[in-house]
Amino acid sequence: MRFLVTGAAGFIGSSITDSLLADGHQVVGVDCFTDYYDPAIKRRNLAGAREHDAFELLELDLAGADLPDSALEVDGVFHQAAQAGVRASWGSEFATYTQCNVLATQRVLEQLVRHAERGRGRVAPVVYASSSSVYGNAEQRPTLETALPAPISPYGVTKLAAEHLVDTYRHEFGVPGTSLRYFTVYGPRQRPDMAFNKFIRAALAGTPIGVFGDGHQSRDFTFISDIVAGNRAAMDALVGGASTGGTYNLGGGSTVTVREIVDMLSEILGREVAADFGDTQKGDVRHTSADTSAAHAAIGFDPQVDLRTGLAREVEWMQSLVDAS
Ligand SMILES: NC(=O)c1ccc[n+]([C@@H]2O[C@H](COP(=O)([O-])OP(=O)(O)OC[C@H]3O[C@@H](n4cnc5c(N)ncnc54)[C@H](O)[C@@H]3O)[C@@H](O)[C@H]2O)c1
Repeated sequence: MRFLVTGAAGFIGSSITDSLLADGHQVVGVDCFTDYYDPAIKRRNLAGAREHDAFELLELDLAGADLPDSALEVDGVFHQAAQAGVRASWGSEFATYTQCNVLATQRVLEQLVRHAERGRGRVAPVVYASSSSVYGNAEQRPTLETALPAPISPYGVTKLAAEHLVDTYRHEFGVPGTSLRYFTVYGPRQRPDMAFNKFIRAALAGTPIGVFGDGHQSRDFTFISDIVAGNRAAMDALVGGASTGGTYNLGGGSTVTVREIVDMLSEILGREVAADFGDTQKGDVRHTSADTSAAHAAIGFDPQVDLRTGLAREVEWMQSLVDAS
């Protein structure tokens, strides 16, 4: 089959791309290599994919440029492109978030509909990368998808708006669409602005880890291969017609505090890792914890990688980058 992956050069998009290529699918990857973090890292993420004849890369900004027919003639779309990150979404930067997260999503959905209307086949299903940030400080944990979303960051607001667009295009135009609410994703290729990446980088350099807040905040961490599997399963259900879509949490099932992470890191590295605790950042939620029973029932989501194993794999990956530099 042939798939479009948006944000294909990013942490998660490149991992989905590699998984599709490994299974013999064709992939059209779209990315505009934003400078939210070093674009050279994104090019490195795609190094393996670019070796495949079945991979095509389109460098374009989804918020402004139209997708060519070759990108719309697909069996499904993994829509991962977004301006990520909670803390940078305040102030004048919000314009980038509305463009990359809301406008770009609407434009992808609209172009899929128009393409199908031009008689080019049925409208391709969409799996959209949403976020636990739509919940804000959820009253109930583990949190069910039925909890009232109440984001506390502009980023979360844009991720929720795009979910509503997926629902709107499903209801009004019959675009099969599923939103997956990812809970903090980690593992090889994790973005450099994310906590584990920063922590491991500091620990390998022998400098203290800088932590936002008192370290008692907790997260449900999800290993990258489990996120990829959740995406693939959600797509299979849409492509096979078993589902027209829905909204599901994808969480790894191990909710731990940042202090526990620092301890785990010390254990993995075999030496004491020091941490400096600082101020809480605006938009950071206190705790997250996913109830994944709906994802399990609908798409068989069953996370396989426990936190200790996954963290060790991220350490291994980051050590290999240090060794290669
Ligand atoms: N990493 C996480 O823990 C996490 C958690 C919840 C949700 N998500 C969501 O998952 C998706 C992937 O996240 P990630 O961590 O891989 O981020 P990432 O920044 O590594 O990847 C996103 C990619 O999208 C591209 N992009 C952004 N705007 C674009 C545009 N207008 N046109 C074309 N390309 C564009 C960027 O250049 C980047 O390569 C995002 O939608 C994010 O909101 C991630």
